Amino acid sequence: MLNPDETLEDLLGRGLRDLRISVTDRCNFRCTYCMPKEVFNRDHAFLPHAELLTFEEIARLAAVFVSLGTRKLRLTGGEPLMRRDLETLIAMLAELDRAEDIALTTNGSFSPERVHSLRAAGLRRMTVSLDSLDDAVFMAMNDVQFPVIQVLAWIEESIAAGFAPVKVNMVVKRGVNDDSLLPMARHFNRPDTILRYIEYMDVGHTNGWRMDDVVPAAEILRRLQAEMPLEPLDPNYRGEVAQRYRNTDTGAEIGLVASVTQPFCGDCSRARISADGKLFTCLFAIGGADLKALLRGGASDDDLRAAITGVWQKRIDRYSELRTAQTADLPKVEMSFIGG
Ligand code: GTP
Ligand code: 5AD
Ligand code: SF4
Ligand code: SF4
Repeated sequence: MLNPDETLEDLLGRGLRDLRISVTDRCNFRCTYCMPKEVFNRDHAFLPHAELLTFEEIARLAAVFVSLGTRKLRLTGGEPLMRRDLETLIAMLAELDRAEDIALTTNGSFSPERVHSLRAAGLRRMTVSLDSLDDAVFMAMNDVQFPVIQVLAWIEESIAAGFAPVKVNMVVKRGVNDDSLLPMARHFNRPDTILRYIEYMDVGHTNGWRMDDVVPAAEILRRLQAEMPLEPLDPNYRGEVAQRYRNTDTGAEIGLVASVTQPFCGDCSRARISADGKLFTCLFAIGGADLKALLRGGASDDDLRAAITGVWQKRIDRYSELRTAQTADLPKVEMSFIGG
């Protein structure tokens, strides 16, 4: 057991600063790179409700992680807003004194009024996924005919509700939405948003990933710099996944998440809990320790702390740094299961 002055570190000296909590494996989108329809169809077995961690179980785990040094909590999915009454969970997490940050990653497809109740519950930051401003391209990617304008309304309302700067995540796939790079940069050329370009990753085993589909961050940067003056910024914190740039004309910030071509495992301080309560120590892990079994088996907080500490102290994951053509084919957990 650690005493309060010690920090928990894995075998590569990485702390456990950031916890990503998936609250559901369901989503109302079928993004081709994440939940392709051929797999996530009517025959797909989503988790039954009884297998999901309850809000009380999530809040209890979060408190234990915070006691081990975690400072950032991010709610993910699937689509986290598919989980009924998420505001109640947010309010419970907001009571944890030492959790400095509670963030949400959403597809922004719900009624924009909702951003106000999320804010009131204690949510601190909003990240919205949006892959194009062109309806034909966006609909081909979300694969449920969802229009761009509604996601833009969610982003605007989030800004109005006090979430600025709102982060906008764009997964870039060559030949699919790379024509949207510059239109997105122009649209989000404003100080109250941070557009982040994300290299398409080989998460899960259902999206048919090929290296040829990836547009390297260096190429994205070149294409943007042909049109706008961008200067690099220092990271906000050690282990930040995005490389930051500022448009010197407008002050707008953009980010590049080069997880494929320039992996950042060396500083990876992120743990993930799946909706059914497994602890994953890497986005590309095959399995995770079953915290739900401990919770439901009557474990004390000290038992939970010991279990999490034991897993973290043995951690050596650095999948993206080791990625090769062979590892890309290994079985892995689906992104929609642990939320990116
Ligand atoms: P903040 O810095 O708190 O805003 O969060 P973040 O940068 O971690 O943001 P976000 O969760 O939106 O991550 C953006 C994207 O980066 C995700 O959708 C993933 O595609 C990718 N990503 C995030 N964390 C990891 C990671 O640990 N490993 C890899 N390989 N990719 C990651
Ligand atoms: N590669 C990169 N990012 C992905 N996301 C989902 N699947 C992938 C993938 N294959 C991103 C989404 C969202 C976040 C939850 O993860 O766009 O922003
Ligand atoms: Fe849903 Fe997000 Fe996956 Fe798209 S990327 S299918 S919105 S969880
Ligand atoms: Fe962390 Fe695994 Fe991503 Fe590397 S591949 S940054 S270890 S989650």
